[in-house]
Amino acid sequence: MITLESLGILESNPTPFYFYDTNLLDKTLAKVIESSRRYGYDVHYAIKANANRKILTRIASYGLGADCVSGNEIELALKCGFKPEKIVFAGVGKTDSEIEFALDERIFCFHCESVQELEVINQLALRKSVVARVALRLNPDVKAGTHRHITTGMIENKFGLSIEEVYEVKELLSKLKNIDLIGLHFHIGSQILDLEVFRTLSQKANQLKEELFSNSRFSYINMGGGLGIDYANPNNHPIPDFDGYFTAFYEHLNLEPNQKVHFELGRAIVAQCGSLITKVTFVKGPSSRKFAVVDAGMNDLMRPALYDASHSIINLSSKGSISTYDIVGPVCESADCFAKEIKLPKVERGDILAILSCGAYGEVMSSRYNMREIPYAVYSEDKLEPVYLSKELNT
Ligand code: LLP
Repeated sequence: MITLESLGILESNPTPFYFYDTNLLDKTLAKVIESSRRYGYDVHYAIKANANRKILTRIASYGLGADCVSGNEIELALKCGFKPEKIVFAGVGKTDSEIEFALDERIFCFHCESVQELEVINQLALRKSVVARVALRLNPDVKAGTHRHITTGMIENKFGLSIEEVYEVKELLSKLKNIDLIGLHFHIGSQILDLEVFRTLSQKANQLKEELFSNSRFSYINMGGGLGIDYANPNNHPIPDFDGYFTAFYEHLNLEPNQKVHFELGRAIVAQCGSLITKVTFVKGPSSRKFAVVDAGMNDLMRPALYDASHSIINLSSKGSISTYDIVGPVCESADCFAKEIKLPKVERGDILAILSCGAYGEVMSSRYNMREIPYAVYSEDKLEPVYLSKELNT
């Protein structure tokens, strides 16, 4: 699986750093395109998952659209080659200047999340003498069955419009002359592996369309993102189940003629192609509890501290006998822990560990907490071969 020959290359780079397997990214992109095209679906990449320029440029080159949640994300998406007519803009708190920027750039659609937002978009569009295409983000009150911090489609979550607010919008709509209401948007959460959830979401979307918009003809339906990945066994599932995901919608979402379905996937596209490479600084603790202290911290990868997320970790340097370790970072917080009591071949000072499945919400969520450096990135294609983090991930 892991080859020790890669170590020479990895050791020549100062740690910690993100390593991206661009070959796996290419394969994942080819697969998401094949699976979605089968049903005529359009896919936007959710920039928030990984805004690394090289990764974005690669994804844009495959013709995907972009799903942005800030003016800066829109600006970066455009710089990296995403077409304005394929950019959607979501978020509960778009500022006036972000809305103006998006109007100036003629993006495809605003995903609108409140009555006030709709009024403000209308006002700003009127001032510029343009008409803004808008889809209403509905809160369908569907359980995503994922971590509470990444659940977005329940009534207690801040996202989307409640049914009550949709009635208000309908009252107002005829007065909003600079709004072109083209469709509906849903997104109920992230890291969802149970495809039943997407079937339920489709049925709820059918019901809401029927109840609230039986007389409207929408050209655009966006079902969000949320498809999860296999964190426990990345080598068994380097490419997520895109076929199953899109088929769940195809079989359960009712469409009208000329209605186009879009998605906005983040994690499923980039998570498995990234690893965080880190070096062991010290091994410490009593024999009953061994801590391997590594030079990456929660500032480099926040997911374990923030969501109790579990990432597979491998020791690239060692073939020693198996022992149990907590893998912890140097940051002055007890939450700075990547894994508790995991089994690894004997860990020693200087060993190189790889924390897998970090391509999504890893590098992009890094910070300078404790005045640490922001991690940099290394790419498999950059003549650093051979870097075989995992043969399976590279084939
Ligand atoms: N669309 C909307 C409106 C979203 O809010 C999100 C993610 C996506 C699409 C993309 O979802 P994905 O396909 O990646 O599941 N930092 C967390 C994840 C936060 C997700 C935020 N919204 C984590 O590390 O798990």
